[in-house]
Amino acid sequence: MPSATASPTQTKRGSSNPFIAFCQSSIGKKIIVGVTGVYLIVFITGHLLGNLEIYLGQDHVNAYAQFLQGLGPILWLERAILIAAVVIHIVVTIQLAAENRAARPQKYAHYNYQAAKPSSRTMIYSGLLVLCFVIYHLLQFTFMTTNPEYRHLEDHLHRHDVYRMMILGFQQPIISLFYAAAIFFLAAHLSHGFSSVVQTLGINNQKVSGFVSNGGRWFSWLIFAGYVSIPVSILIGLIK
Ligand code: HEM
Repeated sequence: MPSATASPTQTKRGSSNPFIAFCQSSIGKKIIVGVTGVYLIVFITGHLLGNLEIYLGQDHVNAYAQFLQGLGPILWLERAILIAAVVIHIVVTIQLAAENRAARPQKYAHYNYQAAKPSSRTMIYSGLLVLCFVIYHLLQFTFMTTNPEYRHLEDHLHRHDVYRMMILGFQQPIISLFYAAAIFFLAAHLSHGFSSVVQTLGINNQKVSGFVSNGGRWFSWLIFAGYVSIPVSILIGLIK
């Protein structure tokens, strides 16, 4: 009979391989979610810094895009790691959520729901919304499936005109609104992710935990402001 009282830290199928045993343990899974999360944050920050070049003008953006394309195998390696990080982050998070639900005593179920912060309850939903956004975003700007006309945009140096592509995209209020909403959910997801790290690592020192939680919150909303500034600047005609 399966044990209903099994601790979440208990490994279900004990493995003699220490690495597999680590990946199957609850703490190992939390660390995997954290490490993949950190990788995704590094990508999101780097991507924002690259996108902010839009304020430096068409030439900077197009040169940067051409530089990235020119990286060839390195770009594909980065893309492969990125896809792996996203998949692992999602799969392991779902496993942890299922384990926690199974291990939670029935009588505390209602109490836990009450005590959990809204951001905690909606963590999975905000993550899934961000994933849907990224799929649309790739179809729009990377594969250009939603807007095949973007494929023919070229600047005076015959480079792909990524700058014009962004302007055309965000001049549509509905697209800009969709991006702003998605980036809001991304910031909420990141902000809560930092608080979770404090819990996972069991940081009891109030100064350190406050620094990580508050710093994470500031960082997340700074990311929000940076990304959202782009569609807003285009919509109000600051960048054209
Ligand atoms: C205002 C917000 C954003 C703008 C203007 C923007 C712009 C772009 C552009 C122009 C590309 C295509 C680059 C190229 O092929 O030359 C791109 C790719 C991409 N973007 Fe964004 N992006 C934004 C937000 C985001 C966010 C919030 C995420 C993640 C949560 C994201 C994830 C990606 C990914 C994964 C790619 C594919 C990268 C690759 O092909 O290697 N973007 N973005």
